[in-house]
Amino acid sequence: MTHEETMAITVTVNGERVARTVSVRQHLVDFLRGELGLTGAHLGCEHGVCGACSVRVDGVVVRGCLMLAVQADGAQVVTIEGLSHTGEIADLQRAFVERNALQCGFCTPGMLMAAAELLREPRAMTRAAIRAHLAGNACRCTGYHAIVDAVAATLDARLKR
Ligand code: FES
Ligand code: FES
Repeated sequence: MTHEETMAITVTVNGERVARTVSVRQHLVDFLRGELGLTGAHLGCEHGVCGACSVRVDGVVVRGCLMLAVQADGAQVVTIEGLSHTGEIADLQRAFVERNALQCGFCTPGMLMAAAELLREPRAMTRAAIRAHLAGNACRCTGYHAIVDAVAATLDARLKR
């Protein structure tokens, strides 16, 4: 029988401190989904390709399937649940709905996470630049047009505030 190595970690997730003992091999998204019930970050490829697992760690969007839970020890993690709860992207979420920027919704949490980066310090961007920014997030349903529409409309509205 093999002994699974574990480690005690403390992570602040969506503003709440959580302490758990985890397998040293568990990746961050499994930890968030399985241990904490935060199922907004999805597991698609599990190889860093699709972006469905995107979460913020210490202010930077990372692929949660490529980071181990133990690597997040001491970090501040924000998931789509936390981001949504703060109201930070309420306008972006509205724009996604209004412009049909989601169909099955599998990619949507990761897309919103990635797009939220552009809204933190909004600046005028071309559609091509928005698309390039979102290039690490795959969507098999929408063809991306409506997603870019939604992000562009939200950026425009924020720039006019
Ligand atoms: S599940 Fe992490 S990038 Fe696809
Ligand atoms: S809406 Fe289905 S994968 Fe993007």
